Amino acid sequence: MSFPLYAPAEEHHLLRETVRALADEKIAPHAAEADETEEFSWDVYKALVAADLHAVHVPEQYGGAGADALATVIVIEEVARACASTSLIPAVNKLGTVPLLLSASEELKSRYLAPVARGEAMFSYALSEPEAGSDAAAMKTRAVADGDAYVLNGTKMWITNAGISEYYTVMAVTDPSAGARGISAFVVEKSDEGVSFGPKEKKLGIKGSPTRQVILDDVRIPANRMIGDPGTGFKTALATLDHTRVTIAAQALGIAQGALDYAIGYVKERKQFGRPVADFQGLQFMIADMAMKLEAARQLTYHAAAKSERAMNGEPQKDLTFLSSAAKCAASDAAMEITTDAVQLLGGYGYTKDFPVERMMRDAKITQIYEGTNQIQRMVMARQLLK
Ligand code: CAA
Repeated sequence: MSFPLYAPAEEHHLLRETVRALADEKIAPHAAEADETEEFSWDVYKALVAADLHAVHVPEQYGGAGADALATVIVIEEVARACASTSLIPAVNKLGTVPLLLSASEELKSRYLAPVARGEAMFSYALSEPEAGSDAAAMKTRAVADGDAYVLNGTKMWITNAGISEYYTVMAVTDPSAGARGISAFVVEKSDEGVSFGPKEKKLGIKGSPTRQVILDDVRIPANRMIGDPGTGFKTALATLDHTRVTIAAQALGIAQGALDYAIGYVKERKQFGRPVADFQGLQFMIADMAMKLEAARQLTYHAAAKSERAMNGEPQKDLTFLSSAAKCAASDAAMEITTDAVQLLGGYGYTKDFPVERMMRDAKITQIYEGTNQIQRMVMARQLLK
């Protein structure tokens, strides 16, 4: 007999209620301001830390909350419903640390996961470069062995939370003759000599989360900061994305839910032709489609999260790569459609900053691009199906 892998437990429902209450009270009121000022809100970060929601995935043995992958998805979803930028705190803390959870020595895990769990440090992930986006293996950043150290040189680009994170998982070429098998992963600290950051990118959305280059200029780090063995960095990077594309799906679901909830409230209040516009069947059909697409993407995401959890617990799941790409792709495409329709439902008002749906539409766009464009996700899915 096979049981559904994805059924949320009572604890997951309770967690959702708790996070929603906190997000409504402490995060949502700052969302428009963070978007307008393009500033990271340390007050909101502190509120997440106080509730132990900033890096929920860190296992208990490293001082974390030990949330499973589905619980992590629910946290990210509910935070994103209020503010997409803020949801990048738990999401990117997971992205930066999964390489360690998958491949690092016990010593590296204890040293770096505990401060993240305590809320003293955030952890970013540095794979992309100016000339290596979708083709991540084309990276140029070099790490050259020198005694018991490595010296890193190069520029990483599009790094979420760069400058505010203390720690970075950095993928760099250790053997230029070996292609993807010549890439290794390292932990780099913000305080390492030679680390600097580019200016904040001026983005369409997620403006409350800084995106900057990480510039490595003769950064000398101890050899024991390598994550796993030499040459395994690219595999670790892709295996990480198998888990974290699920969290981008969660972010997309949250943004879409926020827009849908707002639009439903609006159409019941807004009167035209002498009655609430919710009375018109054309709008009812739009709302039904929005909710249908959202729920379909949610079920796929929860299913992928259950697979991710099993894989993390040492039970490899051969369809995780397919499912995480499918969830990310489906949820982000749904979020773009749903937020665009939410703007439409609010008409001219939806197009202004006096209402939150235009921000949600701008925020949704990035979910179709980062952690692999949706074209790359389709390529990954097709490769899994045809191999
Ligand atoms: N898990 C583990 N290993 C994997 C893997 C996976 N899911 N997929 C592939 N590999 C292995 C392969 O087996 C291969 O190893 P061998 O040579 O030993 O067999 C190796 O990795 C290279 O694989 P490919 O030949 O398939 O590699 P490729 O160069 O064709 O690239 C790709 C594959 C799917 C296009 C990959 O480059 C990719 O995903 N690109 C998109 C990059 C991306 O997602 N960037 C996101 C940056 S992070 C970000 O956006 C986050 C943020 O700030 C919020």
